[in-house]
Amino acid sequence: MAMKNREKNSAGTSLLYEQAAKEIAGLIDQGTFRAGDRVPSIRQFSKRFNVSINTVMQAYTLLEDQRLIEARPQSGYYVRSRVPEIREPDLQTRSFIAPTTVTISNLCHRVMHNMMNRELLPLGSAIPSAQNLPIDKLNRIMASELRRRGEQGVLYQMPPGYERLRVQIARRALVAGISSGPDDILVTSGCVEAVLLALRVTCRAGDTIAVESPFYFNFMQMIAELGLKALEIPATPREGISIEALRYAIEQGKISACLVITNFSNPLGSLMPEERKRELVELLARHEIPLIEDDIYGDLTFGNERPTAAKSFDRSGLVIYCSSFSKTIAPGYRVGWAIAGRFQAEMERLKMIMNIAPASPTQLAIAEFLATGGYEHHLRSIRRIHARNMSQLADAVVRYFPAGTRMTHPAGGFILWVEMPEGTDAILLYHRALEQKISIIPGPLFSLSNKYDHHIRLSGAQWDEKIEQGIKVLGALAHELVPK
Ligand SMILES: Cc1ncc(COP(=O)(O)O)c(C=O)c1O
Repeated sequence: MAMKNREKNSAGTSLLYEQAAKEIAGLIDQGTFRAGDRVPSIRQFSKRFNVSINTVMQAYTLLEDQRLIEARPQSGYYVRSRVPEIREPDLQTRSFIAPTTVTISNLCHRVMHNMMNRELLPLGSAIPSAQNLPIDKLNRIMASELRRRGEQGVLYQMPPGYERLRVQIARRALVAGISSGPDDILVTSGCVEAVLLALRVTCRAGDTIAVESPFYFNFMQMIAELGLKALEIPATPREGISIEALRYAIEQGKISACLVITNFSNPLGSLMPEERKRELVELLARHEIPLIEDDIYGDLTFGNERPTAAKSFDRSGLVIYCSSFSKTIAPGYRVGWAIAGRFQAEMERLKMIMNIAPASPTQLAIAEFLATGGYEHHLRSIRRIHARNMSQLADAVVRYFPAGTRMTHPAGGFILWVEMPEGTDAILLYHRALEQKISIIPGPLFSLSNKYDHHIRLSGAQWDEKIEQGIKVLGALAHELVPK
């Protein structure tokens, strides 16, 4: 009722949605709705306050922009946790400009090894929880496909890979805005192999590759193995890699390729806005620099729409799109793919030299899983679970970690990047946590500089009492390490 009167009194309808937003913001402020609570649906709000659906939609968009509420798929709008957000890097400093030779770190190897150690509580690993994977369904499909398709399951599926699977992948690529045919797709052994092949066809030892900072540590190791230099370009949780900083870097020296995780990156969780993706693709195309795009987390949005890929803006064939089903269906199946534009034939050739073909049975099973329509349904369910896990994880970090701890607030994926108070030694925390049978990923692995020495990566792939207890123990350990 109250809104209706104001609607009549208001000088212009353009402000009406602001009033509606203020109304909800007030209720959040007073504590009527708290973090994690569902706010009235658009329809309920519109009915209750007698304003149009359109006005409420605009109001909710405004509240989302103000980071007060967030949409969750098939579920409605929820009050966001008021977690202190990570600080943005200073993009004015040009100190990032020196390409650095990467060294292989033992720590990296041990951290990766720990990821699958069942004796450790997996608080850091970016691996989906087995309870969120369609194991029974896949097992049934695998058995029936192997029976049905006979020799296809045991003989090589030569590159570019099993055709039925490539047709399904091409159809799904449309959701990310990529228009491709089955012959544009190269099936690989996971996303990592797609990225490795992409690096091999675009760079030679000694070349410089631009990456976002902080950056997925396994790719750092790959860059090292290939004898490449990494140039770390600052990235922000909201927009991903800084286009301005990248432009500056390109003006300063030769860059052979640029490797970016465009949607829900690892570890920042950043989602590049469409406009930034377009700018990135256009900037690199102007300088004839290939873009290697890793979009492994794109299907894991918490929103209703899957974000587009940078590849959707590719007009020159310079974008090599890489992804896999490791975060959504089955990491152990090792089914990934590349859509490599100009580099397609060369990557196919290289793939054949390296390991002839990816395993056949898992290609058959995933093709059937995609074709029979189980994938969308499965995605809807895991998106909801991850969104809930991530907000519980963030709340627990706020509760148990030292004051001054900040974190990201990703809109998809299941990775949380945590910045503890300055001076809190993340490597020491990693070792102390291991003594308590907890595994985390220490921040220094995500850069060649010492920038992230008080950061850690946590995972929201799973949430239960044991995990919460683990976060409590970790928080207590972090308290001990904060400089007095
Ligand atoms: C950004 C990113 N790319 C690739 C991978 C690995 O992909 P796959 O298992 O499909 O090789 C990971 C796993 O953590 C990842 O975070």
